[in-house]
Amino acid sequence: NGNYTVTFIEGDGIGPEISKSVKDIFAAAKAPIEWESVDVTPILKGGKTTIPDAAINSVKKNLVALKGPLATPIGKGHVSLNLTLRRTFNLFANVRPCRSIAGYKTAYDDVDTILIRENTEGEYSGIEHEVVEGVVQSIKLITREASERVLRFAFQHAEAIGQKEVRAVHKATIMKMSDGLFLSTAREVAKDFPHIKFSAELLDNVCLKMTTNPNIYRDILLVMPNLYGDILSDMCAGLIGGLGLTPSGNIGDECSIFEAVHGSAPDIAGMDLANPTALLLSSVMMLQHMGLNNHADKIQKAIFDTLAEGRALTKDLGGSSTRSQFTEAVISKL
Ligand code: IPM
Ligand code: MN
Repeated sequence: NGNYTVTFIEGDGIGPEISKSVKDIFAAAKAPIEWESVDVTPILKGGKTTIPDAAINSVKKNLVALKGPLATPIGKGHVSLNLTLRRTFNLFANVRPCRSIAGYKTAYDDVDTILIRENTEGEYSGIEHEVVEGVVQSIKLITREASERVLRFAFQHAEAIGQKEVRAVHKATIMKMSDGLFLSTAREVAKDFPHIKFSAELLDNVCLKMTTNPNIYRDILLVMPNLYGDILSDMCAGLIGGLGLTPSGNIGDECSIFEAVHGSAPDIAGMDLANPTALLLSSVMMLQHMGLNNHADKIQKAIFDTLAEGRALTKDLGGSSTRSQFTEAVISKL
C-alpha cells in the first residue's frame, strides 16, 4: 500500500502519551507510516541485559525505529536499555541537532549546533571493576575502528547537509592516549575530505564558548567521544530551553533508532502534561532519514509555528496547555 512500517518503542513513564501525539499528528499529516509497537521489557540472561526477540526482529525487519524514554537504573541493576538498544543494533553515531526555537525566549537566541557523538564505546563500554575495597576502575575504551567509523560518518554528514567544517572535540592534553587516538584518527580521516575544513578544540573550551557565544558553532559540525557528547548535548539543550525540545538519531549501517533525549518523567506520567516536542522532532529527523522530506517539512513547520505562536505551550515551557491541547494545536496547522 506504499506505506513504510516503522518499529515504535513507546517507552516508560510519559512515553505512551507523547507517542500518542506522534501517532495523531502523523495520521493528520497523512504521513505514509504504519507503526509496529514492540515491548522491550528487559530480559537478564547470564548477567547480560537483552530485549525480547520480537523487538529485535521488528527493528531488523523495518530498519527504522522511533523510541520514547526508557528508565535507566542508577548504580546496580540491569544495563541501561537505551545502551542495550544502541549496542544490539550497532548504532555507532548519535546525531544531536540543537536549534533555538523561534518565539521561545531563553538567554540565547542564536543556538544552532549539530553534535555527533560516538555511540558504542568510551566510558560507556561497561568495563568496570573493584581493584581492592574502596578503589574502583571504569575503563574508557577507545578504538581506532570505532573512532574512524564515527569520524567518517561526521564528514559524510557534513557533506550531505552542506556544512563546511568538522571539529573534533577532545581532551587529548590529559587523555593523551585515548583522546590522542581519536584526534589522530580524525586527522587521518580528514585527508579523505579535502573540501571540508577540519579543526579540533578542547572540550572545556567548547563549553566556555558555547555558553558565551554559541553563534560561533553555527557552521561547524562537532564530533566527539561518547561521554563528552552525552554531556555537551545536554548543555546545548539547556541553552535553548531544555531536553523537551531536542531530538536525536542513533544511526548504524543497517538500522537507525530516533529518540527523544529526555527521561521518562515518572512524576508527571499519565497526567497529560508532558511536552511531546522532542519526540516529535525526532520523528521529523526520522522522516528526513527515510527521504520523506515533504512530510518532514510539513510536520516540522506545524510544530515550530505552534511553539512560535506560544498559545498552546506546555507547562515546562511556561504555558498552561496540556499535551493533548498542544497536539491539537499542531494538528490544526497541518
Ligand atoms: C542520553 C541518555 C542516556 C545516555 C542514558 C539514558 C543511558 O542520557 O541518551 O543522552 O547516557 O546516553
Ligand atoms: Mn544524556
